[in-house]
Amino acid sequence: MAIISSKQQAQEPVGQPKQRRELSGSRKSPKAPATEELLQPQPAQDEQGKQEESIRPRAFADYIGQKDLKDVLDIAIKAALARGETLDHLLLYGPPGLGKTTMALILASEMRVDCKITSAPALERPRDIVGLLVSLKPGDILFIDEIHRLSRMTEEILYPAMEDYRLDITIGKGSSAKTRSVPLPRFTLVGATTRMGALTSPLRDRFGLIQRLRFYEPDELSQIVLRTAQILQTPLTEDGALELARRARGTPRIANRLLKRVRDYAQVKAPETSITQEVAAQALELFQVDPCGLDWTDRRMLSVMIEQFNGGPVGLETMAASTGEDTQTIEEVYEPYLMQIGYLHRTPRGRIATPSAYKHLGFTLPNEQLSLLP
Ligand code: ADE
Repeated sequence: MAIISSKQQAQEPVGQPKQRRELSGSRKSPKAPATEELLQPQPAQDEQGKQEESIRPRAFADYIGQKDLKDVLDIAIKAALARGETLDHLLLYGPPGLGKTTMALILASEMRVDCKITSAPALERPRDIVGLLVSLKPGDILFIDEIHRLSRMTEEILYPAMEDYRLDITIGKGSSAKTRSVPLPRFTLVGATTRMGALTSPLRDRFGLIQRLRFYEPDELSQIVLRTAQILQTPLTEDGALELARRARGTPRIANRLLKRVRDYAQVKAPETSITQEVAAQALELFQVDPCGLDWTDRRMLSVMIEQFNGGPVGLETMAASTGEDTQTIEEVYEPYLMQIGYLHRTPRGRIATPSAYKHLGFTLPNEQLSLLP
């Protein structure tokens, strides 16, 4: 299977959430520590090289977690292979860092086809998507990351391509313009998004399979870091792996990044031993990664809710104004994990900090707050 990538980092268009990495730099209060970068779910600049590729699972058998998704895709693959057909177009959605690109590459490998990887910001001009579509071979997978960011023109080129495997090209301009249809080979589009709600319905409706990736459980992340440690030839104990897993925000990309930083720490401070629970905890303490994986901004959001708004309900706009974060970043990056670990509830009246959040931050829960919780 060949992997052809045309990914490119583009500027965030107006109205898109800022990436956590950008935020931790210029816009944040100077109190936000630089170590916060460790918990960013987006890939860092140096996380796209050979070593990253070596730790990426290449087959379903090596892919840990996401059991429901794997079961659905396994059936789709077997059925498509048995009929000698291509896979239906697939839309994967969920928070960043959970393995959407990895899953597309595994699909290609299981279907024994090539995978072309791109992202919506790289498809600025119509000829970008046209070039990719005409280069596909029968059965190939075209992976488009951040698919909610496609331009309208690119999206309109994709509609007939997805539905009828046809490229409609307009030649000339004005009244003499003519449309020509060019047949395309059958292919599978795998779209990935962190913002399902931002997809247009005509695009969403053209996917035969729509699947969500969920945060990983600590035991799954623990298996992932044990596997990575083996590839990196780093001695790691099971309790050391669990300590990393608990602080990794349910996200394999973060778990593997924490492992690499803790490996550096162990090499300098404890070179004779494996990475044990104690060594992992000491290192992560030093890097200011909290035992639940919360960073400075998560803690600040919760403490603002508790101290300034009696724990809520607080509206999203108010939260944004009080913390200096933008609403989309709060909704898409911070809240999903805080809700997942039960520290925050979204209610029709606003956000509420839960008793677990009070306890974690060392606040006493006022009795009246209990009655607000669902
Ligand atoms: N590395 C990153 N994600 C993984 C996963 N789901 N399984 C195994 N290794 C991984």
